[in-house]
Amino acid sequence: MTGGSGADGEVEVEVAIVTGAGQGIGRATAARLAAGGAHVVCVDRVADAAERTAAELRGAGRRATACTADVSHGVDCESVAEVAARLGRLRVLCNIAGISPFSTGISEVTEELWDRVFAVNVKSVFLMSRACLAQLAAGDDAVVVNMASVHAFAALEESAPYAASKGAIVALTRQMAVDLAPAKVRAVAVAPGAVDTPSSYTGALGLGASTTELGVLKDRGHLGWLAEPSDVAEVVAFLASRTARYVNGTTVVVDGGMLAQLPRS
Ligand SMILES: NC(=O)c1ccc[n+]([C@@H]2O[C@H](COP(=O)([O-])OP(=O)(O)OC[C@H]3O[C@@H](n4cnc5c(N)ncnc54)[C@H](O)[C@@H]3O)[C@@H](O)[C@H]2O)c1
Repeated sequence: MTGGSGADGEVEVEVAIVTGAGQGIGRATAARLAAGGAHVVCVDRVADAAERTAAELRGAGRRATACTADVSHGVDCESVAEVAARLGRLRVLCNIAGISPFSTGISEVTEELWDRVFAVNVKSVFLMSRACLAQLAAGDDAVVVNMASVHAFAALEESAPYAASKGAIVALTRQMAVDLAPAKVRAVAVAPGAVDTPSSYTGALGLGASTTELGVLKDRGHLGWLAEPSDVAEVVAFLASRTARYVNGTTVVVDGGMLAQLPRS
């Protein structure tokens, strides 16, 4: 995944930014892109988590730099872009950081909760993409990968801010693909179903799952097993690769078939 030659003939280092890299899908994506040769900027709001991922990758002989940032704040996003600019040529931006506060019916959703979910899940995609655009547009093969969810396409009870934010990511990705095409920057999204990450268990608890149910959650995936973060990371890596150069503006569902089946009534 390392980049092409610079003007002086030296091979440029290819840089990928991954937000939410401290754990879960972001961490797996950072590992996958680093294994492909990119220098990964591991961004997380939690400093220790960003550092831990970057240290793990460096320990495995990869290139990685930790970056503490709250991607719902524009100044933080500008700082992340500056860090990336010092490392090489930024070709890949993965907007994966997100929050999923379930268990809140419409009448209980506070204005603060709604705004926070949209700031972290949606505004961050705009802010990070805007901050990185000049660098991404400097080449002719850059890509932004955004993290949507099956909640963009089908509803579970008591998930309004999350579902609306993920629907917005699908629309924003489409818009970015249209607006950034002249700059040769692709924009794609991934919509996972249930993935085995810490937040999945928190979310299931919020929706009223018992601890026994949590114990069997792992066997509940549509194919009889729950996706690992690496199952999503592999799809992100493909979409970010030059092999996927004609995939643009679309959302790839990675749900083991969850959305394909009608419930028995
Ligand atoms: N886990 C699933 O089943 C699932 C399914 C569909 C979509 N998703 C989406 O995938 C993404 C990652 O999910 P996950 O389960 O790995 O989540 P997670 O909670 O395990 O990890 C999210 C990471 O993002 C970081 N983060 C949160 N807010 C941030 C902010 N403002 N700035 C910077 N970093 C921040 C957290 O510190 C954490 O390290 C999210 O966008 C989520 O909505 C997850």
